[in-house]
Amino acid sequence: MRPTLRRVGIQISPSILSADFSRLGDEVAAVSAVADWVHVDVMDNHFVPNLTLGLPIVESLARVSALPLDCHLMIDDPDRWAPPYAEAGAQSVTFHVEAAADPVRLARALRSLSARAGMALKPATPVEPYVGLLPEVDMLLLMTVEPGFGGQPFLDVVLPKIRAARQLLVDADSQVWLQVDGGIGPETIERAAEAGADVFVAGSAVYRSDDPAAMVELLRAKARSAVPGVDVRH
Ligand code: DX5
Ligand code: ZN
Repeated sequence: MRPTLRRVGIQISPSILSADFSRLGDEVAAVSAVADWVHVDVMDNHFVPNLTLGLPIVESLARVSALPLDCHLMIDDPDRWAPPYAEAGAQSVTFHVEAAADPVRLARALRSLSARAGMALKPATPVEPYVGLLPEVDMLLLMTVEPGFGGQPFLDVVLPKIRAARQLLVDADSQVWLQVDGGIGPETIERAAEAGADVFVAGSAVYRSDDPAAMVELLRAKARSAVPGVDVRH
């Protein structure tokens, strides 16, 4: 059995990318009693071929959300554009290593603004070159689809990378959270959890279901059942 002592617990972060953008406040409220975070996908039509939302909407959401905001920035030049999301009230701000010029300086800037700093890797980006940066961040996000769109199928090919990353974190006695994002639903969350993820983003599974809150609870139950004994928080 893989050691699991450093894992704080299973966390669920519904992605509003699949929510109704005309009533975002209500969509966030629908999961507020059961989720841990609200995942906000910022896309700039440069780093990814899609355009979503930006700072003004994050500022508005931060004012009304009962849950902390987990901002996932799929944007070019996060060195310049990420810190304002922390200033806007996001409690976690994740940038892509493929886009960051100086990830250490950026992570330190985010932390100095009282946000958790997240470092994201696309499916084909190996984790090993970034191991030395782990003490500088609070979360490692391993994408389980190509970033850019919701509703894509989970990439099982990423599972060995999740396993390797969990082992690296265990070996380093690290408290860094390991987030997965893309294709997470009732059919896939157990294998992502078993591989070592502890923070789960789910967009279409939650917001395309008839009962988003019930889906969050189902996802949490399935993740817990895949790694009994991990969840000490709930
Ligand atoms: C994709 C985004 C995801 C997206 C996930 O680039 O980063 O957060 O919302 O959507 P699902 O859960 O539908 O794959
Ligand atoms: Zn995301």
